[in-house]
Amino acid sequence: MKTKKNIWLGFHNKSRSERIKILKENSFLNDEFSENLLNNVTLPCDIAEKISENNIGTLALPLGIAPNFLINGEKYTVPMVIEEPSVIAACSYAAKMISSSGGFYAEILNRKMTGQVILYNIENIEKAFENVLNYKEIILNTANEAYPSIVKRGGGAEDIRAEIFYDDNTSFLSVYLTVDVKEAMGANIINSMLEGIKSLLEKITGGICLMTILSNYADKSLVTSSCEIDIKFLSNDINVAVNIAKKIELASKFAKIDIYRAATHNKGIFNGIDAVVIAVGNDWRAIEAGGHAYAASSGKYKGLTTWTFDEKNLKLKGMLTLPMPIASVGGSIGLNPSVKAAFNILKNPDAKTLACIIVSVGLAQNLAALKALVTKGIQKGHMKLQAKSLALSVGAIGSEVEILAQKLTEAKHINLENAKKLLKEIRKKLRKIE
Ligand code: HMG
Repeated sequence: MKTKKNIWLGFHNKSRSERIKILKENSFLNDEFSENLLNNVTLPCDIAEKISENNIGTLALPLGIAPNFLINGEKYTVPMVIEEPSVIAACSYAAKMISSSGGFYAEILNRKMTGQVILYNIENIEKAFENVLNYKEIILNTANEAYPSIVKRGGGAEDIRAEIFYDDNTSFLSVYLTVDVKEAMGANIINSMLEGIKSLLEKITGGICLMTILSNYADKSLVTSSCEIDIKFLSNDINVAVNIAKKIELASKFAKIDIYRAATHNKGIFNGIDAVVIAVGNDWRAIEAGGHAYAASSGKYKGLTTWTFDEKNLKLKGMLTLPMPIASVGGSIGLNPSVKAAFNILKNPDAKTLACIIVSVGLAQNLAALKALVTKGIQKGHMKLQAKSLALSVGAIGSEVEILAQKLTEAKHINLENAKKLLKEIRKKLRKIE
């Protein structure tokens, strides 16, 4: 029987056009998007100036892909937009290890968004609290009347709850509205609904509305991705593999007890997550805010992943749970040709599938970073891939870039000073040859 060729073999050593050709030939890209990518067609200025204010141009970032993601039995090639070297390599590497061990299992625990109406200056706050719950149905109907199209699409306002807060001499009543936003991220839907129920709530509570706004603490849009890695993929030497697995477990424990480490641990996770969120044209600040708030949901800011080593079965188990209120429609998603290409590469997933993919990328990035950190250290892999940008930043051009990058990876220190020195030497040698 003929075995299927691994199209990713040597992929990162190919040219850009060869990579696009491979994606096209293997149905990851249709003709239109592969043509757009080949010609680097990005956001046109006439559209850019309609998206945000005082526009004077666009700013480009590298778009790459991380292959090898097997999530809930489906294979994905994940588009990532990032300026930092080694993130895409790290995700590809970890995804390959995880996929060889059965892949990621990801599930959406819920997909609802929350908004709040904050009221103050209420004479009897306990009574106001009760009234809100008694008028629940009327409030929900009023919210849905403020945005009927989401109700037509099967979503809409679903629940209300309230909480009383006391400051030194002010008391607040916060009314939380839970909304099923379907495929959208939901900011406009929720904000319209909240503004729609504001005067009704002022009447019911006798208070003054301080503000109405959606919350980025999307704890009703949680996604969990988990994996079980056969530790033979960590190292060919089983004793070394056991040691790495134990250290990765310790690293995840330490990130839950020390805030200095937790922040860096989570930054690594968001290296992967933000890169995909940007590629699919979503609001990455919202995803970051929700993720970091969730990391502090116990009252202490903690690392978001959990790695445990099952020594009996020689498996390293990883898990990441995160709010992921991602959208597959709306905003600027349909306006940006590169975002449309990214969706095409992902085979146009719905919002729930996209959320599962993104959280799995976060888990993969964390595994690669931890493995590097507890073994050879981050500088080796990271700086090897940083060498080309360093070469460019000291002014290397044409063939000088590859030569200097190679020399830097062989050097004791990969830094600006060394890069400048080595470039001078290379130029001297090249001049002699001429
Ligand atoms: P390696 O073992 O030297 O790589 O690791 P390799 O050459 O043996 O290749 C293994 C696989 O890696 C490849 O498989 C690719 O999948 C991928 P193949 O395709 O050959 O079958 N790969 C690449 N993919 C695309 N382009 C490349 C490339 N090279 C390898 N050029 C690697 C090298 C960088 C993967 C590894 O050292 C690593 O994962 N390092 C971690 C890098 C990292 O986490 N970077 C993020 C920036 S650092 C940071 O900000 C976060 C941090 O602070 C977070 C924290 O503290 O937790 C670290």
